[in-house]
Amino acid sequence: MFYSLQIVALDLGIKMITSFKNRDVVSILDFTREELETLFEYADKFRKVEGKLNLLNGKVVSLAFFEPSTRTRLSFEVAAKRLGADVVSIIGEEASSIAKGENLADTIRMLDAYSNIIILRHRYEGAAKYAAEIAENPVINAGDGIQHHPTQAMIDLYTVKTLFGSIDGLVYVVLGDLRYGRAAMSFIYGLSLYKPKKLYVVAPQLLRIRNEVLQILKERGLPIEEKNDVREIISEADVLYVTRIQRERFPDPMEYEKVRGSYIVTLDLLEKGKSTLKVLHPLPKVDEIDHKVDTSRYAAYYLQARLGVPVRMSLLSLVSGVEI
Ligand code: NCD
Repeated sequence: MFYSLQIVALDLGIKMITSFKNRDVVSILDFTREELETLFEYADKFRKVEGKLNLLNGKVVSLAFFEPSTRTRLSFEVAAKRLGADVVSIIGEEASSIAKGENLADTIRMLDAYSNIIILRHRYEGAAKYAAEIAENPVINAGDGIQHHPTQAMIDLYTVKTLFGSIDGLVYVVLGDLRYGRAAMSFIYGLSLYKPKKLYVVAPQLLRIRNEVLQILKERGLPIEEKNDVREIISEADVLYVTRIQRERFPDPMEYEKVRGSYIVTLDLLEKGKSTLKVLHPLPKVDEIDHKVDTSRYAAYYLQARLGVPVRMSLLSLVSGVEI
């Protein structure tokens, strides 16, 4: 469903506050910094609570995952259940009537009839927006195509805030597949809502950020710069955000072979950086981070994955209109 803007008069003048209630979550760019701050305040509260709450009692959350997922699906399911909601799921096209020829639109109509919130992952870009146009209930994009994975960006930004106290003023390096990687792109879009000191993007030549996207980001005022080698700028970095090469999205397997294993983050590299440097990764990781990094002070990706639960609890509550 499409959301409405709520105009609220504050004593400092007229401020426009967009409500989360009943809102579709398609792209991180649909949100303001103030809204993300509200989300993060909720997440701070949920992190302190253990066990099950009854904030979403009587509600049903549906998970429709037409692409593989571990963290996103499980953390959404845990978040919904911890809030007291019931969960129904479709995992993979082969397990639903899509395998019998049913189209996505009818599948969405059914999820809309049986549940109060639809969480959708799909290989096609635009699938979440399309579903949002069909469904009466809110649709949350759990990753569609190669650009948008808004809830991952929320978690990533919240992780930075948790680690550094602020998202502004830091130097970020995003290393990986900037052509097909929606988590990296959504993180970069998310940063454009903030004031990073600098954002370096580093990718193998074939997987460079698309020029039109780079232009849009520059126009949004993001201090973004492309680099060829992470070693040139590692000493400046506060956050190194790494992603895997998205093998399954390559139209030609030979192209993947050309870039496979083309970057690897080692302890050696990280030791050339600040002692406070943190490595983020949306996971799954394959071979782009040496396993010795996993147990080092630099690794923040397991914390990042854990924070998926409180951030998704916050989003589900806010979209359901629950106040805490
Ligand atoms: C990401 C995705 O699906 O885009 N996974 C996730 O949700 N944490 C990243 C990836 O698959 O590389």
